[in-house]
Amino acid sequence: MIGKLNHVAIVVPDLSAATALYRDTLGAAVSAPVDLAAHGVTVVFVTLPNTKIELLHPFGEKSPIAPFLEKNASGGIHHICYEVDDILTARDQLKAQGARVLGDGEPKIGAHNKPVLFLHPKDFCGTLVELEQA
Ligand code: CO
Repeated sequence: MIGKLNHVAIVVPDLSAATALYRDTLGAAVSAPVDLAAHGVTVVFVTLPNTKIELLHPFGEKSPIAPFLEKNASGGIHHICYEVDDILTARDQLKAQGARVLGDGEPKIGAHNKPVLFLHPKDFCGTLVELEQA
């Protein structure tokens, strides 16, 4: 069902320091910061040859990642995103196998303007999983 690893998202307490780390120390190609108000995050996209890393920092008052940063002051891996061909088919198959889909279970438009869903970390080895329709 799942295809390519689309990205790994890392929440960071200092976006410019994290950007410099990936750009200057690790030598990766990094984007300018992008504010995604609808998602409550500012993102820097790190492009690797085979996937992407997203450096996430809270944006606005009610960012969904603010509690994560409170629990993990130095940041940490927040979720991984796998591509699927058809998000509704994938959702229905997973639900039929007992997996929990977060929120109201309907796909939302994600950071790449494609439909996404999140799966409960307790059902996937303690990892928050995002599915994105490729
Ligand atoms: Co993501």
